[in-house]
This record gives sequence, structure tokens and C-alpha cells, in this order.
Amino acid sequence: MIIFKHGGKLEDFVLKNKIKNNSIGFVPTMGALHEGHLSLIRECKMASKITVASIFVNPTQFNNKEDLEKYPRPVSKDILLLEETGCDILFLPDEKEIYPNDKSKKKSYRLGNLESILEGEFRPGHFQGVCLVVEKLLNIINPDFLFLGQKDYQQCLVIKKLISLTHKKTRVIICPIFRETNGLAMSSRNVRLNPSDREKAYELYRSLDFIKENLSVDNFLNLRKQVVSCLQEKGFKVEYLELAKRKGLKIVTTPNSGEELIILIAAFLSNVRLIDNLLINP
Ligand code: PAJ
Repeated sequence: MIIFKHGGKLEDFVLKNKIKNNSIGFVPTMGALHEGHLSLIRECKMASKITVASIFVNPTQFNNKEDLEKYPRPVSKDILLLEETGCDILFLPDEKEIYPNDKSKKKSYRLGNLESILEGEFRPGHFQGVCLVVEKLLNIINPDFLFLGQKDYQQCLVIKKLISLTHKKTRVIICPIFRETNGLAMSSRNVRLNPSDREKAYELYRSLDFIKENLSVDNFLNLRKQVVSCLQEKGFKVEYLELAKRKGLKIVTTPNSGEELIILIAAFLSNVRLIDNLLINP
């Protein structure tokens, strides 16, 4: 695996490969890699000649200083995992490389209601920060395919919107959520859960599954009330639990037949914020 720390050199490498008609697939990450990230690398390797991953803990997308400071950064371990998985290229920039000055942080994107609902509502400015960094990465790597995880479903829609706003040709491929055997969605933040919370965290997935299973016999609002109070009793602080249309994430309360829907949840367990979602086809 070749590691690039400077965008200019990586851009030259990509250009040389484009001339040879080698397809480029890209997996952006913030590191602290787990099997979920590695599943994206594997998908990427199957679809593209060259697999590029990036690791950059992007400060502009954190709206909570403590979350940024506590974000795990096991870089040497990540490099080994990427090598073992057969990743070809790692882009590992420092903050100055991505944001050389304050001006490079000042751009705003018209994301519409995606920015004000769900994650957008509870993490103001988060998606603007995601767009800032992803646009910079795409400008350097100019990939044919971009692999993203359904785990961050709203982020997938935001990045698709960014690609259309910036007239890029990159195709987004959304990969399924990789889970622990008990159903807990893998996340870099899971390592911050203490052992007893880690045991408990799978309740989020169980709640989504319970709603999915019962949506044909009870209405969503009743089920939500039941699930939220159950989660609260177990120590979760639920930020949102919503049913939405998969396309555009319009919030709904009753599923209409034929509509592709998704249930999304965000909750704190101790001071760790967890998100999860489940696709449903009524
Ligand atoms: P990060 O949280 O490191 O996630 C990198 C990619 O891995 C995202 O596309 C995310 O959806 C995916 N992912 C995370 N957990 C997963 C799981 N359990 N199963 C499958 N895929 C999973 O998302 C970001 O970083 C950043 O916002 C980024 C896009 C890199 C911009 O800074």
C-alpha cells in the first residue's frame, strides 16, 4: 500500500492511472477502522482497479469539542488493517493539508431540508463540515466510485447532493450496515462504551427490529412511545426515532404500501452518541 500525505502527489498518481483507464474507487474514513469500514474496502476492491482509502478526523464536522478530542486515532493499527485488506492507496493528510487557512473552511452548501432534520437538527453544521472535507477529497481523488455506509444514511444522501451540486461524475455506492453478532452496528465510537454499556447498546437495533416487525399490527407513534420509554428505562437518552421515506428522508408516521421507508434512531448511552437505522418495505 502506498501512503500519500500530500494531495498534489496523490492527484498526479490518480491522473497517471486515469490515462491508463484504471478505475478508481474511494472509501473516505476518519480512521479507528473496524469490520464495517473494511467491508467497504472489500466492496471497493471488487468494483475498481485501484482502491483508495483516506483517514482524516475532520474537525469541521464535529459540533462537540469533547467528541472531537476523544475520537480514537489508532493510526498504526489502521494502516496494518488496510494493508491486510488489500487497500492500494491511503491518503493520510494532516489538518494543514486539508485546511491550509481559515478561508479554506468557509464555503456553504445548499443542502435543503437534509440539513435541518434528524442528524442535521441535532448536529448543527455537521453536514456542512462533511461536505467541506468530502468535496476537497473528491477534488484530489476524482474517483469513479465512492463507497459509503448505510450506517450514516443521511450522510449518503447529503454526499449524493454534494456530488450533484458540484457536477461531479462520481457514482455513489451505498453498502449495508456491518453489525456485531448481537446486532449492534459497528462504529468507531463503540470503543468508548464501558463493558456494561457495550452489552446494552444492541438494544438500539432490537428497538428498530421490534418496530419493523410490528408496524403492520400497530401504528408507528404507539410503537415509538413504547420503545422510547423502554430505552429510557435502560439508560438511553433518545434524540430522535423517526420513520421516513428512503428517498429524501421526508418524515412520515404511517407507511403507505409500496413506499420504501427507513427507521432511524440516535441516542446517547452515557456520553457516547450512537446512531442506527433499518430499511423497511411495507
Ligand atoms: P467514518 O465514521 O469513519 O465512516 C467512514 C465510512 O464507513 C462511512 O461511509 C460510514 O457510513 C461507513 N461505516 C461506518 N460504520 C459502518 C458499519 N457498521 N457498516 C458499514 N459501513 C460503516 O463517515 C465518516 O467517517 C465521515 O463523515 C467522512 C465521510 C469520512 C467525512 O469526514
